[in-house]
Amino acid sequence: MKFFIDTANLDQIAEAQDMGILDGVTTNPSLMAKEGITGEQNILDHYKKICDLVDGDVSAEVISTDFEGMKKEGERLAALHDQIVVKLPMIKDGVKACKYFSSNGVKTNVTLVFSAGQAILAAKAGATYVSPFIGRLDDISTDGLNLIQEIRHIYNNYAFQTEILAASVRHTMHVIDCAKIGADVMTGPLSSIEGLLKHPLTDIGLEKFLADYKKGN
Ligand code: E4P
Repeated sequence: MKFFIDTANLDQIAEAQDMGILDGVTTNPSLMAKEGITGEQNILDHYKKICDLVDGDVSAEVISTDFEGMKKEGERLAALHDQIVVKLPMIKDGVKACKYFSSNGVKTNVTLVFSAGQAILAAKAGATYVSPFIGRLDDISTDGLNLIQEIRHIYNNYAFQTEILAASVRHTMHVIDCAKIGADVMTGPLSSIEGLLKHPLTDIGLEKFLADYKKGN
């Protein structure tokens, strides 16, 4: 499973990259705003900084909601760096734009996906990634992981090449459950990745090894 980090914070991206386990980054307009990155040029510059920090795919989201606008914006984003993946909303024009970009060799990530039907459309449009938001479904008492399972089943039926990018991951158990189901990618906060490290027996064992070493030296 690929690990993406879901943030526009350069320090956190650098920290995950430094661990050697990072495969890419996802951002969205809210994450950019959280870092105080506003204005078109600043946002474009920030995407370039992110691409320079990591080796893998960097999703950059369009804010247009009509086909022509998405096409123009997506082309500008894709021209920034060869690691850019154009992130498009799951609306009719977003599907059309996804088909346009996938037919022209530009990677895409269809975002704001909350149903199996939407995931079928994203795959039919040739999306590189489909982003079902599991945390936001959990927030409204709907099983987000069940959606990942449904999409996995459907994509396997037809050997769709679109990668399932489990998004809106909120914690470490989401990461493990997505891996069990067979999500291709997960994107979450740094804390959801660092949580995988934790086990009390590791800490107790290491403490004992170091204490025993000191006794003999
Ligand atoms: C996906 O690409 C989104 O950026 C993200 O995962 C949304 O997560 P949230 O629901 O925690 O805001």
